[in-house]
Amino acid sequence: MMTVKEIPRLRGQVAEWRGAGERIGFVPTMGNLHQGHMQLVRHARSAAQRVVVSVFVNPMQFGPGEDFNSYPRTLEQDRDKLADESVDLLFAPGIEEIYPHGARHTTRVEVPQVSEGLCADFRPGHFAGVATVVARLFNLVQPDVAVFGEKDFQQLAVIGRMVEDLGWPIEIAAVATVREPDGLAMSSRNQYLTAEERQRAPLLYRTLCEVAARLRSGESCFAELESDALQTLRSAGFEPEYVAIRDALTLQSPAGMDTPQVVLAAARLGRTRLIDNVQV
Ligand code: PAF
Repeated sequence: MMTVKEIPRLRGQVAEWRGAGERIGFVPTMGNLHQGHMQLVRHARSAAQRVVVSVFVNPMQFGPGEDFNSYPRTLEQDRDKLADESVDLLFAPGIEEIYPHGARHTTRVEVPQVSEGLCADFRPGHFAGVATVVARLFNLVQPDVAVFGEKDFQQLAVIGRMVEDLGWPIEIAAVATVREPDGLAMSSRNQYLTAEERQRAPLLYRTLCEVAARLRSGESCFAELESDALQTLRSAGFEPEYVAIRDALTLQSPAGMDTPQVVLAAARLGRTRLIDNVQV
């Protein structure tokens, strides 16, 4: 596996593979790789001859007071894990490589509708930061297929919509959330949990499963289901930001019971912000 920090080398290598008629799979990450990321890499490997993974902690998607500075950076370990999965190229650029004019002065990509509400209400500017960096990475790597996890369900919707609106010939592949044995969705931020919080954290997933089960059994008062879930989480010491039942395709409030639905939530447990979702 080669590790590349500069754009010209990345472009040169990708052009060579493309010239040989090989399909390029791409997994953008912020590093600190866990089994959830490895599933994305394996999916890319099954869908393309060449796999490129990027590791870049993107300052533009962190708000003031968020964990940009303390976000775990573990490039050496990440490199070993990716080499074990036979990744072809690790792209690990510095901030200046991605934002030559600085993150505050770069051209921004704003994706309407799906970037509004839910996490965006609590992380203003976050999805513009995600869309902007992913757009830049897509233009640099020019993948045939790019792989994202369903844990970040709204992010997946934002990227799908961006690719559709901009007419890029990139297939967006979604991979199911990888969970710990007790149900907690794998996330780099789980390591911020204290031992005691870690015991309580799976309640978020269990609460979403309960809402999904009630929907499946025919309950249709969304406000009551959401408010019961918020109450369950608060009683267990979580500070929920939202629990929301949405149309799984548009992320708008469901027009009825016939379209696919998703139950999404974000909640703070101590200093850790957890997100999760369950499709109905
Ligand atoms: O999901 C992530 O790790 C990040 O949001 C992404 C897609 C790599 C963009 O920085």
